[in-house]
Amino acid sequence: MKKLLLCLGIAWIGLHSQQNLPQPGDPLPGITPHEFEMFRLGLDDFTEVETAEEGLGPAFNGTSCAGCHSVPAVGGVTSMTETRAGHVDEEGNFTELNGGTLFHLFSVPNHLCQVQIPAKANVFARRSPLPLFGAGLVEAIADETILALEDPDDRNGDGIRGRAARIEDVATGRPRIGRFGWKAQQATLLAFSGDAYRNEMGITNDLFPEEVALGISPESMKLCSPRQRIEDVRDRRTGLRGIDNFESFLKFLAPLARGPVNEQVRRGEATFRVIGCASCHTPQLMTGPNANPVFDRKPVALFSDLLLHNIETGDGIVQAGAKANEIRTPALWGLRSRRPLMHDGASLTTEDSILRHGGEASAVRQQFLSLTKDERRDLATFLNSL
Ligand code: HEC
Ligand code: HEC
Repeated sequence: MKKLLLCLGIAWIGLHSQQNLPQPGDPLPGITPHEFEMFRLGLDDFTEVETAEEGLGPAFNGTSCAGCHSVPAVGGVTSMTETRAGHVDEEGNFTELNGGTLFHLFSVPNHLCQVQIPAKANVFARRSPLPLFGAGLVEAIADETILALEDPDDRNGDGIRGRAARIEDVATGRPRIGRFGWKAQQATLLAFSGDAYRNEMGITNDLFPEEVALGISPESMKLCSPRQRIEDVRDRRTGLRGIDNFESFLKFLAPLARGPVNEQVRRGEATFRVIGCASCHTPQLMTGPNANPVFDRKPVALFSDLLLHNIETGDGIVQAGAKANEIRTPALWGLRSRRPLMHDGASLTTEDSILRHGGEASAVRQQFLSLTKDERRDLATFLNSL
């Protein structure tokens, strides 16, 4: 079986290296046959539908990773949103309620495990899925590269105060700069995979060993989920855990290729830079030195500084290194393949999204409002070429 996969891998890579652009869902060009095999194993686990016998629940949002990450190919998004909740006191201090901030959509049938909205909850927020294409390249960007873009004290006087999310990586216990999630709450794909497996699917793992659900106390949770063991166990054949396989899939998943670039797109891109969109949506970052040539000092055309900003769309939830009013600049690559937009999925078009930019982006929004109709059309065409 291993040999067959290897041969298929080589044949597949041979076939695709003749074309320049990877298709949505393809692995990064140039990976080795062994890496391709890891990617395939990861894809299998990423699309596998889990059941309660395998550890799903007691509370969950989906039964497979691909359930929420599938458009326009496995690894993308869907138009679902999830809900988060918490408590804010009169002084504006945020506190997490029993079981974290994620208010799950479903629970397995067991009267002890039904998700409850605690009476104290008075902040609610929606979150859309984020696309995962090119995630391995984003992971390979060095912390220092993100830190160099910070300007929390607005030293250059442009009103933009990007801040890096300082977090502790659960996988290594090391201080890191977060870059994944709307709040930049995780720095590595392994950590995010562990987080998602437990929080989205209720499957406990080495990084997130406890079941949690909003409104269920740890004591009640022990009663409704009596099996006190890690649910994500190592595969006897490969020695790998589910979270290792997710990591491999995400690491080697290629970014979406850009759409055709014509004169109008080029004009729109120039406007994007001139009016200051690029101050946060940084067109390109470089990966750091890396032992793997696929990730070694490569350009990453993600259109994000990976910093936290207050553009007055903040969702009120304090999470990891991010304040209630901060959201991490979303990458704009692959924008044409996803709708709705913004963290809450409440904007349907790029123009709707731009008009919601306030706070640190107020001056840039003002510039946008002064564009001619043709300039706005060019800008929209550029954004939809990404
Ligand atoms: C119920 C829907 C749902 C399921 C199931 C789900 N995700 Fe997600 N995913 C989301 C949402 C929503 C976000 C944005 C979360 C946030 O920042 O609060 C997200 C974000 C991510 C990110 C961050 C991407 C970035 O660039 O910032 C990664 C990585 C990820 N998911 C991996 C996974 C993996 C691995 C699984 C399976 C174990 C999974 N997801 C299952 C909805 C889902
Ligand atoms: C001060 C930093 C900043 C500036 C300047 C800025 N943005 Fe944003 N942009 C953000 C943040 C932060 C979000 C996410 C907000 C949210 O989801 O609530 C965002 C979201 C978006 C989205 C939605 C992306 C998605 O995946 O949902 C688009 C499109 C966008 N910006 C385009 C632009 C354009 C075009 C400009 C220039 C007119 C611009 N932005 C200027 C920070 C900025």
